[in-house]
Amino acid sequence: MENRIILYYEKLDSTNTRVKELAKEGAQHGTVVVADKQTAGKGRRGRTWESPAGTNIYMSLLLRPEMEPSRAPMLTLVMAYSIAKALRKRGYGDVQIKWPNDLILSGKKICGILTEMELEGQEISHVVIGVGINANMRAFPEELQDKATSLCLEGGKEVNREQLIAEILEVFDEDYERFLEKKDLAFLQDAYNRMLVNCNREVQVLEPGNEYTARALGINKEGELLVQKADGSQEAVFAGEVSVRGIYGYV
Ligand code: BTN
Repeated sequence: MENRIILYYEKLDSTNTRVKELAKEGAQHGTVVVADKQTAGKGRRGRTWESPAGTNIYMSLLLRPEMEPSRAPMLTLVMAYSIAKALRKRGYGDVQIKWPNDLILSGKKICGILTEMELEGQEISHVVIGVGINANMRAFPEELQDKATSLCLEGGKEVNREQLIAEILEVFDEDYERFLEKKDLAFLQDAYNRMLVNCNREVQVLEPGNEYTARALGINKEGELLVQKADGSQEAVFAGEVSVRGIYGYV
Protein backbone atom coordinates (compact mmCIF):
# COMPACT_ATOMS: atom_id res chain seq x y z
CA MET A 1 0.00 0.00 0.00
CA GLU A 2 1.35 3.41 -0.96
CA ASN A 3 1.45 6.31 1.49
CA ARG A 4 0.59 4.24 4.49
CA ILE A 5 0.59 6.07 7.78
CA ILE A 6 2.51 4.26 10.51
CA LEU A 7 2.48 5.83 13.97
CA TYR A 8 5.00 4.70 16.53
CA TYR A 9 4.56 5.22 20.26
CA GLU A 10 6.90 4.35 23.09
CA LYS A 11 3.99 3.63 25.39
CA LEU A 12 0.24 3.24 24.92
CA ASP A 13 -2.56 1.67 26.89
CA SER A 14 -3.46 -0.48 23.88
CA THR A 15 -2.68 -0.07 20.18
CA ASN A 16 -6.21 -1.29 19.37
CA THR A 17 -7.70 1.45 21.55
CA ARG A 18 -5.47 4.08 19.91
CA VAL A 19 -6.49 2.98 16.42
CA LYS A 20 -10.15 3.15 17.41
CA GLU A 21 -9.66 6.74 18.59
CA LEU A 22 -7.85 7.63 15.37
CA ALA A 23 -10.59 5.98 13.32
CA LYS A 24 -13.19 8.19 15.00
CA GLU A 25 -11.07 11.21 14.07
CA GLY A 26 -11.16 10.08 10.42
CA ALA A 27 -7.86 8.21 10.06
CA GLN A 28 -7.42 6.57 6.69
CA HIS A 29 -7.75 2.92 5.76
CA GLY A 30 -4.40 1.17 6.25
CA THR A 31 -3.21 3.30 9.19
CA VAL A 32 -0.95 1.31 11.51
CA VAL A 33 -0.14 1.98 15.16
CA VAL A 34 2.90 0.34 16.75
CA ALA A 35 3.90 0.60 20.41
CA ASP A 36 7.02 -0.50 22.21
CA LYS A 37 5.03 -1.11 25.38
CA GLN A 38 1.36 -1.38 26.31
CA THR A 39 0.02 -0.71 29.77
CA ALA A 40 -3.41 -2.25 29.13
CA GLY A 41 -2.85 -4.68 26.25
CA LYS A 42 -6.03 -6.56 25.44
CA GLY A 43 -6.37 -10.24 24.61
CA ARG A 44 -9.38 -12.17 23.42
CA ARG A 45 -12.23 -13.03 25.79
CA GLY A 46 -11.52 -10.03 28.03
CA ARG A 47 -8.04 -11.23 28.97
CA THR A 48 -5.03 -8.93 29.32
CA TRP A 49 -2.03 -9.19 27.01
CA GLU A 50 1.29 -8.78 28.82
CA SER A 51 3.19 -6.12 26.87
CA PRO A 52 6.62 -5.28 28.30
CA ALA A 53 8.91 -2.72 26.62
CA GLY A 54 11.83 -3.30 24.27
CA THR A 55 11.06 -6.82 23.18
CA ASN A 56 7.84 -7.71 21.37
CA ILE A 57 5.59 -6.50 18.57
CA TYR A 58 2.33 -4.77 19.44
CA MET A 59 0.61 -3.34 16.41
CA SER A 60 -2.87 -2.54 15.15
CA LEU A 61 -4.11 -1.97 11.65
CA LEU A 62 -7.15 0.10 10.68
CA LEU A 63 -9.33 -1.21 7.85
CA ARG A 64 -12.43 0.33 6.35
CA PRO A 65 -13.84 -2.56 4.32
CA GLU A 66 -17.11 -2.33 2.46
CA MET A 67 -18.81 -5.60 3.27
CA GLU A 68 -21.35 -7.20 5.56
CA PRO A 69 -20.32 -7.09 9.22
CA SER A 70 -20.74 -10.88 9.45
CA ARG A 71 -17.70 -11.24 7.18
CA ALA A 72 -15.34 -9.26 9.41
CA PRO A 73 -14.14 -12.25 11.50
CA MET A 74 -12.61 -13.64 8.30
CA LEU A 75 -10.09 -10.81 8.44
CA THR A 76 -8.58 -12.39 11.55
CA LEU A 77 -7.90 -15.52 9.53
CA VAL A 78 -6.43 -13.51 6.64
CA MET A 79 -4.05 -11.82 9.08
CA ALA A 80 -3.08 -15.12 10.75
CA TYR A 81 -2.39 -16.58 7.32
CA SER A 82 -0.33 -13.56 6.21
CA ILE A 83 1.79 -13.60 9.37
CA ALA A 84 2.36 -17.35 9.02
CA LYS A 85 3.51 -16.84 5.43
CA ALA A 86 5.79 -13.93 6.39
CA LEU A 87 7.35 -16.06 9.15
CA ARG A 88 7.79 -19.05 6.86
CA LYS A 89 9.59 -16.81 4.36
CA ARG A 90 11.92 -15.81 7.18
CA GLY A 91 12.79 -19.42 7.88
CA TYR A 92 10.32 -20.36 10.60
CA GLY A 93 9.17 -23.26 8.45
CA ASP A 94 7.29 -24.99 11.25
CA VAL A 95 4.93 -22.18 12.07
CA GLN A 96 1.33 -23.32 12.42
CA ILE A 97 -2.04 -21.68 12.89
CA LYS A 98 -4.36 -22.43 15.76
CA TRP A 99 -7.79 -21.47 14.51
CA PRO A 100 -8.83 -18.73 14.42
CA ASN A 101 -6.28 -16.33 15.79
CA ASP A 102 -3.08 -17.81 17.22
CA LEU A 103 0.25 -18.72 15.64
CA ILE A 104 2.21 -21.60 17.05
CA LEU A 105 5.83 -22.73 17.08
CA SER A 106 6.88 -25.95 18.82
CA GLY A 107 3.34 -26.34 20.15
CA LYS A 108 3.46 -22.96 21.91
CA LYS A 109 1.91 -19.59 21.15
CA ILE A 110 4.03 -16.91 19.49
CA CYS A 111 1.30 -14.59 18.24
CA GLY A 112 -2.26 -13.61 19.07
CA ILE A 113 -4.70 -11.52 17.06
CA LEU A 114 -7.58 -9.44 18.40
CA THR A 115 -10.02 -8.11 15.81
CA GLU A 116 -12.52 -5.48 16.86
CA MET A 117 -15.27 -3.99 14.74
CA GLU A 118 -17.20 -0.74 15.03
CA LEU A 119 -20.58 -0.45 13.32
CA GLU A 120 -22.41 2.57 11.98
CA GLY A 121 -26.03 1.50 11.82
CA GLN A 122 -26.01 -1.82 9.97
CA GLU A 123 -22.67 -1.13 8.28
CA ILE A 124 -19.03 -1.48 9.17
CA SER A 125 -17.51 1.82 10.18
CA HIS A 126 -14.10 0.24 10.66
CA VAL A 127 -12.25 -2.88 11.71
CA VAL A 128 -9.14 -2.93 13.91
CA ILE A 129 -6.81 -5.91 13.67
CA GLY A 130 -4.44 -6.04 16.62
CA VAL A 131 -1.39 -8.27 16.47
CA GLY A 132 0.84 -9.24 19.37
CA ILE A 133 3.98 -11.20 18.51
CA ASN A 134 6.42 -12.61 21.04
CA ALA A 135 9.50 -11.52 19.15
CA ASN A 136 12.52 -11.22 21.41
CA MET A 137 11.15 -12.27 24.80
CA ARG A 138 13.64 -14.63 26.46
CA ALA A 139 11.78 -15.61 29.60
CA PHE A 140 8.11 -16.08 30.33
CA PRO A 141 6.28 -16.04 33.66
CA GLU A 142 6.01 -19.54 35.07
CA GLU A 143 2.31 -19.94 34.27
CA LEU A 144 3.03 -19.27 30.57
CA GLN A 145 6.18 -21.33 30.15
CA ASP A 146 4.50 -24.38 28.67
CA LYS A 147 2.08 -22.28 26.59
CA ALA A 148 4.15 -19.45 25.10
CA THR A 149 7.44 -19.03 23.28
CA SER A 150 9.11 -16.36 21.14
CA LEU A 151 10.68 -16.10 17.70
CA CYS A 152 14.02 -15.42 19.36
CA LEU A 153 13.85 -18.50 21.60
CA GLU A 154 12.82 -20.69 18.67
CA GLY A 155 15.11 -19.22 16.03
CA GLY A 156 18.13 -18.62 18.26
CA LYS A 157 18.56 -15.00 17.23
CA GLU A 158 17.06 -11.57 17.85
CA VAL A 159 14.42 -10.41 15.42
CA ASN A 160 14.45 -6.94 13.88
CA ARG A 161 10.93 -5.86 14.83
CA GLU A 162 10.58 -3.03 12.32
CA GLN A 163 11.62 -5.24 9.46
CA LEU A 164 9.23 -8.00 10.44
CA ILE A 165 6.35 -5.52 10.73
CA ALA A 166 7.11 -4.25 7.22
CA GLU A 167 7.22 -7.80 5.84
CA ILE A 168 3.91 -8.73 7.48
CA LEU A 169 2.17 -5.62 6.14
CA GLU A 170 3.45 -6.34 2.64
CA VAL A 171 2.10 -9.90 2.67
CA PHE A 172 -1.18 -8.82 4.28
CA ASP A 173 -1.77 -6.11 1.65
CA GLU A 174 -1.58 -8.75 -1.09
CA ASP A 175 -3.80 -11.21 0.77
CA TYR A 176 -6.31 -8.50 1.62
CA GLU A 177 -6.61 -7.55 -2.06
CA ARG A 178 -7.28 -11.18 -2.91
CA PHE A 179 -9.81 -11.44 -0.09
CA LEU A 180 -11.70 -8.41 -1.41
CA GLU A 181 -12.20 -10.02 -4.85
CA LYS A 182 -14.78 -12.52 -3.51
CA LYS A 183 -14.92 -11.60 0.18
CA ASP A 184 -14.36 -15.21 1.11
CA LEU A 185 -11.38 -17.37 2.00
CA ALA A 186 -11.42 -19.82 -0.92
CA PHE A 187 -8.07 -18.40 -2.07
CA LEU A 188 -6.29 -19.42 1.11
CA GLN A 189 -8.38 -22.34 2.35
CA ASP A 190 -6.06 -25.18 1.28
CA ALA A 191 -2.83 -23.49 2.32
CA TYR A 192 -4.41 -22.44 5.64
CA ASN A 193 -5.59 -25.97 6.32
CA ARG A 194 -2.09 -27.32 5.67
CA MET A 195 -0.78 -25.02 8.40
CA LEU A 196 -3.66 -25.70 10.78
CA VAL A 197 -2.41 -27.21 14.01
CA ASN A 198 -5.92 -28.33 14.95
CA CYS A 199 -6.39 -30.45 11.81
CA ASN A 200 -7.57 -33.98 12.63
CA ARG A 201 -7.22 -33.35 16.33
CA GLU A 202 -9.76 -33.53 19.09
CA VAL A 203 -10.69 -30.03 20.17
CA GLN A 204 -12.96 -28.62 22.79
CA VAL A 205 -15.35 -26.12 21.22
CA LEU A 206 -15.97 -23.29 23.66
CA GLU A 207 -19.25 -21.84 22.45
CA PRO A 208 -20.92 -19.59 25.01
CA GLY A 209 -23.35 -21.88 26.82
CA ASN A 210 -22.41 -24.88 24.67
CA GLU A 211 -19.10 -26.66 25.12
CA TYR A 212 -18.36 -29.94 23.41
CA THR A 213 -15.52 -32.09 22.13
CA ALA A 214 -15.15 -32.84 18.43
CA ARG A 215 -12.57 -33.61 15.75
CA ALA A 216 -11.40 -30.58 13.75
CA LEU A 217 -11.47 -31.16 9.98
CA GLY A 218 -10.32 -27.77 8.61
CA ILE A 219 -11.86 -24.45 7.64
CA ASN A 220 -14.43 -23.86 4.92
CA LYS A 221 -14.35 -20.86 2.62
CA GLU A 222 -16.26 -18.75 5.14
CA GLY A 223 -13.46 -19.34 7.65
CA GLU A 224 -15.63 -21.52 9.88
CA LEU A 225 -13.95 -24.49 11.52
CA LEU A 226 -15.61 -27.73 10.44
CA VAL A 227 -15.75 -30.23 13.25
CA GLN A 228 -17.07 -33.76 13.49
CA LYS A 229 -18.86 -34.75 16.66
CA ALA A 230 -18.74 -38.21 18.25
CA ASP A 231 -22.09 -39.12 16.61
CA GLY A 232 -20.61 -38.40 13.17
CA SER A 233 -22.53 -35.17 12.60
CA GLN A 234 -20.63 -32.13 11.35
CA GLU A 235 -20.86 -28.56 12.59
CA ALA A 236 -19.34 -25.37 11.22
CA VAL A 237 -18.00 -23.30 14.09
CA PHE A 238 -18.05 -19.55 13.51
CA ALA A 239 -14.91 -17.61 14.43
CA GLY A 240 -16.72 -14.57 15.79
CA GLU A 241 -17.78 -16.02 19.11
CA VAL A 242 -15.98 -19.25 19.63
CA SER A 243 -12.53 -20.51 20.37
CA VAL A 244 -11.21 -24.02 20.57
CA ARG A 245 -8.56 -25.63 22.65
CA GLY A 246 -6.81 -28.95 22.42
CA ILE A 247 -8.05 -31.49 24.90
CA TYR A 248 -4.58 -32.53 26.05
CA GLY A 249 -2.84 -29.16 26.23
CA TYR A 250 -2.68 -25.75 24.67
CA VAL A 251 -2.91 -26.93 21.04
C1 BTN B 1 -5.15 -13.07 22.04
O1 BTN B 1 -4.49 -14.02 21.64
O2 BTN B 1 -5.85 -13.13 23.04
C2 BTN B 1 -5.09 -11.78 21.24
C3 BTN B 1 -3.96 -10.92 21.67
C4 BTN B 1 -3.83 -9.63 20.88
C5 BTN B 1 -2.76 -8.73 21.45
C6 BTN B 1 -2.49 -7.54 20.56
S1 BTN B 1 -1.06 -6.63 21.05
C7 BTN B 1 -1.48 -5.35 19.95
C8 BTN B 1 -2.98 -5.17 20.00
N1 BTN B 1 -3.37 -4.25 21.04
C9 BTN B 1 -4.01 -4.86 22.04
O3 BTN B 1 -4.43 -4.29 23.07
N2 BTN B 1 -4.17 -6.16 21.76
C10 BTN B 1 -3.60 -6.49 20.47
